[in-house]
Amino acid sequence: MTEKDFIVPSGLEYPKNGKSIWKAPSNIALVKYWGKKPDQIPANPSISFTLDACATKTSLAFEKQEQISSGFSFDLIFEGKPKEDFKPKITTFFERILPYLPFLKEYHFTIETSNSFPHSSGIASSASGMAALALCLMSIERAVNHKMDEEFFRKKASFLARLGSGSACRSIEGDLVQWGKHIDIPHSSDLFGINYPFEIHPTIKKYHDTILLVHKGEKTVSSTVGHGLMKNHPFAEKRFEQAHQNLDRLKGIFFEGNLDDFIQIVESEALTLHAMMMTSQPYFILMHPHTLQIINKIWEFRKATNTPICFTLDAGANVHVLYPEYVKERAIQFIQDELVVYCENGHYLCDRIGEGARELKS
Ligand code: DP6
Repeated sequence: MTEKDFIVPSGLEYPKNGKSIWKAPSNIALVKYWGKKPDQIPANPSISFTLDACATKTSLAFEKQEQISSGFSFDLIFEGKPKEDFKPKITTFFERILPYLPFLKEYHFTIETSNSFPHSSGIASSASGMAALALCLMSIERAVNHKMDEEFFRKKASFLARLGSGSACRSIEGDLVQWGKHIDIPHSSDLFGINYPFEIHPTIKKYHDTILLVHKGEKTVSSTVGHGLMKNHPFAEKRFEQAHQNLDRLKGIFFEGNLDDFIQIVESEALTLHAMMMTSQPYFILMHPHTLQIINKIWEFRKATNTPICFTLDAGANVHVLYPEYVKERAIQFIQDELVVYCENGHYLCDRIGEGARELKS
């Protein structure tokens, strides 16, 4: 598929007003997206677990305006209060998706959005937020474009979400989503995320993710700036190649449920992401001393008890502790006994693999 396939057929009669509500989950990448080309095209393919509890709920009310506006007309309410500082990001998003949703300037929108995870937890809400908004907008198109099937609806929602935030395209479907062209993954695309198309061992499908909130403040360097620093990065080409190889290796690992190899790839990906940050110009560090203490504790515990528990990191200080369902009790006990002390105010969130976004009744 190409971008052209997402252009809306002409002559559709859009409704005067209406409302749609969607809940979209966050996701955690196993093979990381870090580096992009123009138009939100990833420099390398990535794969993620779709989460369940960490999600954004967005309601989009729309009302036709008397006249088509020159800019975009919308109000943004975040957790019950107007939020002006989110508006530029939404405006950029609307500008990027206008060629694919030509009705955007015909309406005044009221966007009400809230996250299930606490505000300023250091968890990025752009993935779930952009995914939920893209789905709400797609509901307007679906109401009038009767030729659209469910598969196309979700594909285009992922395509649009990507234009808001790259990782958001992996927040539409469950349980494992792959994004970015990979020669050995059929139907993989730089334009949208797809359901991972190969067989996955039941142990992998039931993974848990306990998110340790090490540092809840704003990140010092945004993801967008970080992606930019992969341009002219001395190790960029090798890193992009490595992501392709790691996706290749995961195919067999997912099939067999080989947790030792799974852990090796996932932890190496997390550390490589941060190594890229530490070796860019300018260089920066997003890990916190507690991030490293948690990593060391996980390694010690894994060695001493042979429990298949590992970590991954986002572009921040928080640690995602990953483990299969069958070690859940042991893992939670260990987290409570040994890791919670490193969390800001002892806060952590328990999550697991989820089934993807869903529409809520108005
Ligand atoms: C480290 O999707 O937040 O979480 O496309 O600029 O919005 P933009 O970036 P974003 O980058 C996410 C980077 C990451 C890795 C990942 O999720 O794959």
